[in-house]
Amino acid sequence: MNILFVGDIFGSAGRRIVREHIGHVIAAHAVDLVVVNAENAAGGFGVTPEIADDLFELGADVLTTGNHVWDKRELIDYLKSEPAESQARPRRVLRPANLEAGLPGYGVFEGTTRGGASYAVIQLMGRVFMNGTNDPFRAVDDLLPTVKAKVILVDFHAEATSEKVAMGWHLDGRVTAVLGTHTHVPTADDRVLPGGTAYQTDVGMSGPYDSVIGVEKELVLHRFRTGMPGKFEAAKGNPKMCAALIGCDAETGRASSIQRIMLGE
Ligand SMILES: [Fe+2]
Repeated sequence: MNILFVGDIFGSAGRRIVREHIGHVIAAHAVDLVVVNAENAAGGFGVTPEIADDLFELGADVLTTGNHVWDKRELIDYLKSEPAESQARPRRVLRPANLEAGLPGYGVFEGTTRGGASYAVIQLMGRVFMNGTNDPFRAVDDLLPTVKAKVILVDFHAEATSEKVAMGWHLDGRVTAVLGTHTHVPTADDRVLPGGTAYQTDVGMSGPYDSVIGVEKELVLHRFRTGMPGKFEAAKGNPKMCAALIGCDAETGRASSIQRIMLGE
């Protein structure tokens, strides 16, 4: 079974480069399951239901988010619009599982591929240099016994490399893949851990690389050099789609390979 995970889509440049490449990557690698982190897809801040629909049309099966999940008010109603047992699109948009109990949306989705394979996607968010979450390690320990699927992909949306590496080891042998998002710079440490879990500290953003992690570089430089507040805008230049391609056994959920992908114009 082949899984494609696309790193954080940032703004219109990110949406455009993903639209250009995702179809041929899915076809060339006979991808069975497509998971896309869409948390910065709407101008760098959050994702709208319309953009989510576009990504589903392009072949995404599940979308993940992160700390920007509440940025677009209309997404909150969208997340609330389907019950837990639904398989409809709004139910396939995840927010971190380790937020306060009772918030809109869900942190885990279980589905079946077109080929009939069961899978689960879990989203977690880190606590180091980030606010507003419960312990992601305990949260995933509590969650895993409730998951029926053997193929389990975890998007760990976190700032600190140490926390992400630790989560890889924490889940090694218990899930198919632990893939880091949020820091927007791809790391070169993609590998299958000894227990059979594919791991990469950060998949990297799908967005404009002539930028500071997606934002127009002059605006960020101005803030660093003056300390003055200012509006951040999504950059456009040098877009790349960053993704990870994971091969795994659909019966056991054990990963056999992980490959980094970075595609430009
Ligand atoms: Fe983020």
